[in-house]
Amino acid sequence: MREPDQLPSTLNEYYQRARTGMSEENRAYFLSGAGNEETLIGNEQAFGHAKITPRPLRGMGGGSTETSLLGQTFSSPLLIAPFAYHRLLHPSGEVATAHGAEAQNTKMVLSAQSSAEIKQVRAAGNVCDWFQLYWMGSREVTLELAEMALAAGFSTLVLTIDAPVQGVRDREIEAGFRLPPEVSAVNLSGFAPPQFPALTEDQSVVFDGIAPTLPDWDDVAWLIQSVQVPVLLKGILHPDDAAKSLSIGAAGVIVSNHGGRVLDKAPATLDVLPAIVAKVGPKYPVLMDGGIRRGVDIFVALALGAKAVLVGRPIVCGLAVAGELGVSHVLRLLRDELEVAMLLSGCATLDDTTRDMVHLKL
Ligand SMILES: Cc1cc2nc3c(=O)[nH]c(=O)nc-3n(C[C@H](O)[C@H](O)[C@H](O)COP(=O)(O)O)c2cc1C
Repeated sequence: MREPDQLPSTLNEYYQRARTGMSEENRAYFLSGAGNEETLIGNEQAFGHAKITPRPLRGMGGGSTETSLLGQTFSSPLLIAPFAYHRLLHPSGEVATAHGAEAQNTKMVLSAQSSAEIKQVRAAGNVCDWFQLYWMGSREVTLELAEMALAAGFSTLVLTIDAPVQGVRDREIEAGFRLPPEVSAVNLSGFAPPQFPALTEDQSVVFDGIAPTLPDWDDVAWLIQSVQVPVLLKGILHPDDAAKSLSIGAAGVIVSNHGGRVLDKAPATLDVLPAIVAKVGPKYPVLMDGGIRRGVDIFVALALGAKAVLVGRPIVCGLAVAGELGVSHVLRLLRDELEVAMLLSGCATLDDTTRDMVHLKL
């Protein structure tokens, strides 16, 4: 990976340079979405339709972006979303990303499909202590993976429930995307993966092969009871599912459609966020991701009730363009933009970003 002579100076320049600099395969894997990409595009469009009404002259003394979540203090309400195979973008992979996150004191959620060894990533900085996992086909194997993460020093688990099977990602198929031999989900090598049969003309083969390995609410409740740490559920889009998460003891939910990579036609996360927050109330931690590209987007999500947001593709672009420095710089730009948005709209603290300040054109 070539370190560029000069870093991009804006977020859009990162996105532009990453898009043009990536191989066609990487562009297809990291930047595309499922199907007609309606959900991928919809996530960003939803932010485009939201408008912020400023409330000047309210006094900005003691202002900050600090927030607390699950007993931990965060310097800003921004986390790095779990995404797979960082080593496709940079030789040090997730370790580089963790260093970039550490430089900005920003929480990073490590994907189960990390291409770097879990202990090395954990050692790269205190900020990377949330681990994302998928259901591994049975209670025992899923618990085994959770326990591996806890033994490696992770404090919090994020169970992703929206991707029991890979979405139909046309661009990846068309680009012939394949993992190169030197990149793999190294931490899963000791686990028998759930056997996902390839799509065939006989679609029932897909259904019959996968259905028995899928979890239900009882399985998820069992996992939550079986570990001694907070578990968040990622991939919630319906208010009733958020309420169910609360009732089975999940520590919080992440409103997410996997960045438009799974079910195309799933709603934009920003559009469903207010109803979910209304259902579970302001005390239950509701996080969200999907389509956040600028600081003003973070502001909008918080005003609509998210406690914090996660970003995926902005970090993909930072890592692709300039390794750990790029990750750190993208995080810094996002946070600076959030601070500017708060100052320009009269919000000294995140609690001041209120629902009445955001106009949604639905
Ligand atoms: C290339 C790629 C790989 C991803 N891999 C995972 C994963 O392993 N686990 C997971 O829970 N989410 C995964 N996601 C989804 C992200 O965690 C997050 O929900 C999404 O990227 C947010 O949307 P954004 O990219 O618009 O910020 C992945 C996303 C991308 C773009």
